[in-house]
Amino acid sequence: MAHLKDGSGTLRPPTEVLTRGFDPSLSFGSARPAVFRSSTYVFASPEAAERAFSIAGDRLPAEEGKRADLIYSRISHPNAEILEDQMVPLERGARDAAVFNSGMAAIMTAFFTFARPASSIVYTIPPYGGTVRLVHEFLEPFGVTGIAVAAGDTAGLDDAIRAARNPSIVFIETPANPTMMMTDIRRAAERAAQHRPKPIVMVDNTFLGPAFQHPLLLGADLVLYSATKYLSGFSDMLAGAALAADPEIIHQMRSRRVMFGNILQPDECWMLDGRLPTVSLRMNRQSKNAQRIAEHLAGKPQIRRIYYPTLFEDDEQIRIRQAQCDYPPSENDDALGTFDGGNGEGANRRRPRADFGRH
Ligand SMILES: Cc1ncc(COP(=O)(O)O)c(C=O)c1O
Repeated sequence: MAHLKDGSGTLRPPTEVLTRGFDPSLSFGSARPAVFRSSTYVFASPEAAERAFSIAGDRLPAEEGKRADLIYSRISHPNAEILEDQMVPLERGARDAAVFNSGMAAIMTAFFTFARPASSIVYTIPPYGGTVRLVHEFLEPFGVTGIAVAAGDTAGLDDAIRAARNPSIVFIETPANPTMMMTDIRRAAERAAQHRPKPIVMVDNTFLGPAFQHPLLLGADLVLYSATKYLSGFSDMLAGAALAADPEIIHQMRSRRVMFGNILQPDECWMLDGRLPTVSLRMNRQSKNAQRIAEHLAGKPQIRRIYYPTLFEDDEQIRIRQAQCDYPPSENDDALGTFDGGNGEGANRRRPRADFGRH
């Protein structure tokens, strides 16, 4: 089982994904979770109902390490809980996750959770088109000042964060869609940390995460995904996710999610959780193919410029890529694991979750 664990005996992320969040013995032994399409949930007693509603309304803290009893699927449902638990090991440094019905839903919820009235938001341009419209068409009319900085302009971003008045958010999309320019997350996070109150540093990690870039280890507070892309991988669903080292950040976003009604639906959660163990494998392979295509096109007279991270010749872009990403992947990254057909310790270890005892 050499490849299932790292040197310290800890399960590697793709293996840990398979062992979290779901206890087959509580689901007729099924290897994959059932899909719970129920909109409402029943309580064991009126007291249990009162407790669940108090926790959902933030009038009572949830027990440490335990999720509250389920009430209504807009608040949460078993497939979201399973998926959120399984996403955590994939994002290095994360301790909690929340899933949304698209990447834009995750970004919108992050903005509307953390933008303070009359604050400013520093963001890299270009970001994905929907994100910039959120800033211009929603946040700015509500009195939030948007401060745009070109992606990859390290000194410019540093200056903008330092000079920003009452910044509530620093939003970085790296690489940027569609220019592929990379932005220095660590420098931005260090500068943001000098403000009081500290703005929350968010990174849209859709293009390089979770395989090649780990913003939480670089000082970011929140990682956002359009899971519609690599995480799901087959162009057949919309999904979004948010992950953080501080569970309170995710807790606050879940509270907003209840109001916005933008939790990922059970069927989509089920589809996505089945694909998580192969994210790293798929991204490694896809990136090798993309590299070959980019190199092939680079020599063609019909092509004016290629926007591909490994082909940039700008010193700052090369520095950021080398310091910040495991990209391009090394040859070792797609090594296959061996399999021990015996009773090898650690094989298929499942961690039961008490709160799935109900099914
Ligand atoms: C970098 C990036 N972030 C966010 C989004 C929005 O995600 P979704 O389409 O899942 O809402 C996209 C979509 O293309 C994207 O490319």
